[in-house]
Amino acid sequence: MTAQRTRRICVLTGGGDAPGLNAVLFGLVMRAAHHGIEVIGSEDGFDGLITGRTMLLDEPRVRGIASRGGSIIGCSNRANPFAYPVRLPSGEIETRDESARVIEELQRLGADMLVALGGDGTMFMTDRLGQLGVRTIGVPKTIDNDLAATDVTFGFQSAVECATWAVDRLHSTAAAHDRVMIVEVMGRYAGWIAIESGLAGGAHVILLPEIPYDVERVAQKIHERTQMGLTYSVVVVSEGAKPVGGEVAVLEHMPKGHLPRLGGAGERLQRALEPLIREHEIRVTVLGHLQRGGSPTPFDRNLGMRFGVAAADLAARGAAGRMVSLRNGSVVDVPISEAVGRNRFVPPDGELCQTARAVGIELGG
Ligand code: F6P
Repeated sequence: MTAQRTRRICVLTGGGDAPGLNAVLFGLVMRAAHHGIEVIGSEDGFDGLITGRTMLLDEPRVRGIASRGGSIIGCSNRANPFAYPVRLPSGEIETRDESARVIEELQRLGADMLVALGGDGTMFMTDRLGQLGVRTIGVPKTIDNDLAATDVTFGFQSAVECATWAVDRLHSTAAAHDRVMIVEVMGRYAGWIAIESGLAGGAHVILLPEIPYDVERVAQKIHERTQMGLTYSVVVVSEGAKPVGGEVAVLEHMPKGHLPRLGGAGERLQRALEPLIREHEIRVTVLGHLQRGGSPTPFDRNLGMRFGVAAADLAARGAAGRMVSLRNGSVVDVPISEAVGRNRFVPPDGELCQTARAVGIELGG
């Protein structure tokens, strides 16, 4: 079977934003123009295809955007075409299957390739649309770095840089007040941001979703430091970290087909530690969306551009059902299905955790 030539791409940025999305759009649009392919952007992820909001992306529109955070076409982590949330007059939220509407809109726009930038959720939706006959290409994105089938996602390094900056700064104020400073970082059910920023920032305790923690061990570490005359401690806790036998702290449950909002892991740890650490005050900093905002690092800009160019090349070849990926430093492509239903977690006995233990960091379990 000969691959169908692509004439018009529809691109969307699904899920939460990640630094580097605009760099992908820049690379994609510039390279697509070289192949004589037009690019249209769907606004706010799949929402634009469901509600009929799209924009032409041409060179004047994308010039100079690679260094900017966010996405010039907007993002949505609610617009799942297979479980689209609709508020009923009663105030209740019902989810509807709007996939047929997405397919119709792509046809109406004359888009013969859908390029979806996103994390595991977006790749799942894109793969399902592929099964319904839509020609699709995936571009892996997430600050969480938990996507299977790629060694790294763009956005992650920028998030780690932000979290490291925060951990670095907490040392001096913690020391000045002899306090325990807890910093809660993002990452969902994967501890990549926590382990990398905690190691780089010299945290004394790092708690990951992959290693359920024993609060007594955390307290013990703080006591040992106090006995050595080190009267403060910095603890990095992943939002998805949980105590042994406990659950992940959820801030808000979402309608069917949508992930819950995580949050509160830092405060919960504070409450559990307070009775065990009477000699120090404990303060919590939740970094939240600071980790997603702002300019991408040079690495994320360049990886984004490389992914964008590679996605345009795939589209030009008519290679549908593929996702661009970074493997051993090179951009390759893999079936989108490889990124679906399988996440990448921090191996509890892998090199990063071993290094942390070797330099005296307590991992809680
Ligand atoms: O997946 C990226 C991420 O930033 C997670 O680390 C975090 O749990 C979630 O998105 C936050 O989502 P929202 O922007 O909906 O609060």
